[in-house]
Amino acid sequence: AVMDIDIVSVFPEYFDVLNLSLFGKAQSKGLINVTAHNLRQWTHDVHQSVDDTPVGGGAGMVMKPEVWAECLDELLDIEHIDEQNPKPILIFPNPSAPLFTQQDATELSHAQHLVFGCGRYEGYDARIPQYYRAHGVEVREYSIGDYVLNGGEVAVSVMLEAITRLLPGFMGNPDSIVEESYTGGNALLEHNQYTKPASWRGIDVPPVLISGDHGKVDRFRRDEALEKTSRIRPDLIEQLDCRALDKADRKT
Ligand code: ADE
Repeated sequence: AVMDIDIVSVFPEYFDVLNLSLFGKAQSKGLINVTAHNLRQWTHDVHQSVDDTPVGGGAGMVMKPEVWAECLDELLDIEHIDEQNPKPILIFPNPSAPLFTQQDATELSHAQHLVFGCGRYEGYDARIPQYYRAHGVEVREYSIGDYVLNGGEVAVSVMLEAITRLLPGFMGNPDSIVEESYTGGNALLEHNQYTKPASWRGIDVPPVLISGDHGKVDRFRRDEALEKTSRIRPDLIEQLDCRALDKADRKT
């Protein structure tokens, strides 16, 4: 079934890029149906204002709940959920939320309808996710990393790419997504990759890779992945399921 994706933003043109490259192909192949909406279309005042000063004081502006509610009531259509109209998942990028991971991308790739709300970085009224959760909607808030962006648009693009590339038929070669970093309960960084020539500007590829011994190649790559992960991302080693390690792994 086609995955319906609604994106709400004050800069919907930002998502014009979704008509390019793999996204464009996925749309024409009927895998995804993406619509970017302008939040201001749900305002009623001449200034089309979507934000206001923070209650309790402080710098910046906060997105008002009323405008978002008019928009989301319409897009989520929670009164009419049935087999034809399965439950949507509402997603807000937010720098103060749990990190978005490959696991989340995998889960969300099974959804039929995703609604993304792009807030500005100072934030949106916390009652918006609270209200829809209380009304039975699955609401998820995610940060894409420990840095601050100006708004949610880039974060939504990142999440959307991570999710949609997992859809069957999206990638030219589906095998290329099974061996990647961060997949499965055994998330290691990937081993280094090399192509031909075997010697280039005085640098040789590791000889074991041209030995033709698949067992040795697998072992070499696995050791390299373990060594690289321990060095660059010790936090991932901490999270590893020990049962996924073999005897040779323990030596590395
Ligand atoms: N909005 C601003 N910064 C963000 C971040 N790091 N992740 C998600 N949404 C954001």
